[in-house]
Amino acid sequence: MTVEAVILAAGEGARMRSTLPKALHTVGGRAMLAHVIDAVNALKPAKIHVVVGHRGEQVKASLASDAPLNDKINWVTQKEQLGTGHAVMQALPAVDRAATLLLLYGDTPLISAATLQRLVAVADEDEGEGGLALLTATVPDPAGLGRIVRDRHGEVVRIVEEKDASDAQKQIRECNAGFIAAPAGVVETALAQLDNDNAQKEFYLTDIIAGASAAGVKIAACQPAAVEEILGVNTHADLARAERIFQAAQARRLLEQGVCLRDPARLDVRGRCEFGADCVVDVNVILEGEVVVGEGCRIGAGAVIRNSRIGAGSVIDANCVIDNAVVGARCQIGPFARLRPQAELDSEVHIGNFVEVKKSRIGRGSKANHLSYLGDSTLGRGVNIGAGVITCNYDGADKHHTRIGDDVFVGSNSQLVAPLAIGDGATIGAGSTITEDVAAEALAVGRARQKTVDGWTRPLKRRDGK
Ligand code: UD1
Ligand code: CA
Repeated sequence: MTVEAVILAAGEGARMRSTLPKALHTVGGRAMLAHVIDAVNALKPAKIHVVVGHRGEQVKASLASDAPLNDKINWVTQKEQLGTGHAVMQALPAVDRAATLLLLYGDTPLISAATLQRLVAVADEDEGEGGLALLTATVPDPAGLGRIVRDRHGEVVRIVEEKDASDAQKQIRECNAGFIAAPAGVVETALAQLDNDNAQKEFYLTDIIAGASAAGVKIAACQPAAVEEILGVNTHADLARAERIFQAAQARRLLEQGVCLRDPARLDVRGRCEFGADCVVDVNVILEGEVVVGEGCRIGAGAVIRNSRIGAGSVIDANCVIDNAVVGARCQIGPFARLRPQAELDSEVHIGNFVEVKKSRIGRGSKANHLSYLGDSTLGRGVNIGAGVITCNYDGADKHHTRIGDDVFVGSNSQLVAPLAIGDGATIGAGSTITEDVAAEALAVGRARQKTVDGWTRPLKRRDGK
């Protein structure tokens, strides 16, 4: 059976009180809509119709970079947001009538592929007859959700939205999770009968249940593997809850893989990360994008690591920010170090507190332990960068390169004015401003000589007040 999906993401998301379209708010660093697309994609659907409307162009543009399956996505525009049923209608002309349709909302980012798979399988069960399968869940607090109304035989006969529900119906705790699978023809017939005679004056998708039921379509209710999967995000409180559930799952996965998390509740993974064996991650660490950590690494409290690789046996001390950088094996970074894009450290490099490295390659065993800026530079092996050394890489118009050879010693508080080359084994005296190339093995000192003034006396404060 071919499956086509329709994902609804045209709503404004007014309850978010945000200018960002709701579908683009992120969970685990990824747009909610991208999560839904991911789950759907696991079913290998023939097509994914995504209905957009409110700031639709922004949703499309943002997803283009996020979802790896753009050729399958058919963008549909719902000009006016007249309800979820109306939104599905906009997609119907492009849907293959022989397909099984899977209908979803773009604000339920935690849904699993396995649950969707089961829903579609249930809809397909009746060999050609085509039943409608609906995902429901019994929740302790159903506020805001559509309620599942069953007849006295226990069959689902309709969904009533909370705003239209009687007091008795509001007591029902079985809710509409917001996922429907059915043959396209069944959906089409039921949609054709919708009206907007309800509290919100909208064409509710949920009303297709009553229509299909009245037409004798078999309605099967199935439940998600975990009730958290169906969380719909309407407010920032919902979004925060979704984030915590998502992060708990990330932490569980890492623990199962053998990563020692000092507190699984205090790690945030916003992307994909991989760890080698025997890594320890302290509290409040944030991992963003693609992060690869080799075996035996220690990541200190409060580290933020984005799109970077950390070599085996390295220690990232507390409060480091590592962004698009490569750290070699057995390095010692931080505390309070900042590695910016294109910082590439060979093995056994030490980068200490308040040292910033940008677009620089640092050779094996080199050290910059305190209060430095290394930008647009190449350092050889075994270099020692003293406290407060600055590569002056910018002349106000252009960036220039500093090349430092092997075993160079740069004394504290020196400024290296690029473009500049310092040969192997050279020494720079502390407090120097170096503007010219330094030959290998040479000593360069570029500072005023110390002068001692004989007979000088300190001024004294006058006592007469004048
Ligand atoms: C909806 C269901 C409710 C269910 C709940 C589950 C309806 C009428 N109600 O309520 O039964 O329990 O989800 O989370 O379907 N959208 C459009 N076009 C529109 C209106 C909405 O594309 O004209 C999209 C929204 O962007 C959103 C989704 O449809 O992604 C659901 O809309 P929302 O307003 O969040 O519905 P709920 O009130 O949550
Ligand atoms: Ca919703």
